[in-house]
Amino acid sequence: MQTIVILTGAGISAESGLATFRDPKNNNKGGGLWCNHRVEDVATPEAFERDPILVHEFYNQRRRELRDAHPNAAHLALTELAKNFEGRTFLITQNVDDLHLRAEAGKKLPRYKLLPMHGELRKARCEVTEEIFQWEDDMTTATPCPCCNKPGRLRPHIVWFGEMPLYMDLIERMLAECDLFISIGTSGNVYPAAGFVQMARMHGKAHTVELNMEPSGGSSMFHEKVYGPATQIVPAYVQRILTGDVIVD
Ligand code: OAD
Repeated sequence: MQTIVILTGAGISAESGLATFRDPKNNNKGGGLWCNHRVEDVATPEAFERDPILVHEFYNQRRRELRDAHPNAAHLALTELAKNFEGRTFLITQNVDDLHLRAEAGKKLPRYKLLPMHGELRKARCEVTEEIFQWEDDMTTATPCPCCNKPGRLRPHIVWFGEMPLYMDLIERMLAECDLFISIGTSGNVYPAAGFVQMARMHGKAHTVELNMEPSGGSSMFHEKVYGPATQIVPAYVQRILTGDVIVD
């Protein structure tokens, strides 16, 4: 086995205390984010044009929540995999939190790449120059942009509905090349990520595995499925890979 591609979604961060998007339960915030907010109000370019104050406040709140959240056993297990697997590991995440990044902090991982395809909460982007900045604090319509020094030009570095996810060229290439594709903590509702399992099977040769709390929308596409909390099933599956217990053709 030479290449592993992993896709993660909100379920991997649920046990770190971050709300998922669609679960009516399974998180400690009284329902998924899209149960309490309309996507059209906070996660589209049109929403930002119409009501930037509301959109900034939504993402400021998410950014503040990151301060109390920490990587859990599932994030840490994936870092161990990246460190110890002798082939290449590509970790595609739909999550905009930085818990994968923090799990790998200080580790030398030469055969590993993290691809945050829906953007990053701890980054801001200038709408005029497209320059990207590390961003820890709240952002408002009055915040001056670091590159142009003018207010009203910064937006969260988040891929909104109707916008093109990041790293798609590399992702498609890796899906076609990978031997093992593992989907973790995602409901399979949002494309293109929901179609990655099909791409890994149809254009490539991958053995496909779903690790989730419950069957996702695309569960029938996976060769192997394990259901349960990510902090239990992800470390166990990583152990299986590292001990040679996962055989791919
Ligand atoms: P969802 O909220 O749609 O799905 C989360 C999945 O995680 C569900 O299938 C849950 O069963 C599962 N889950 C919950 N807790 C879990 C746990 N402790 N262990 C394992 N699994 C658990 O989130 P995503 O699939 O990530 O996009 O959502 C995809 C995209 O939709 C997001 O990136 C976001 C959203 O709209 C944008 O904002 C562009």
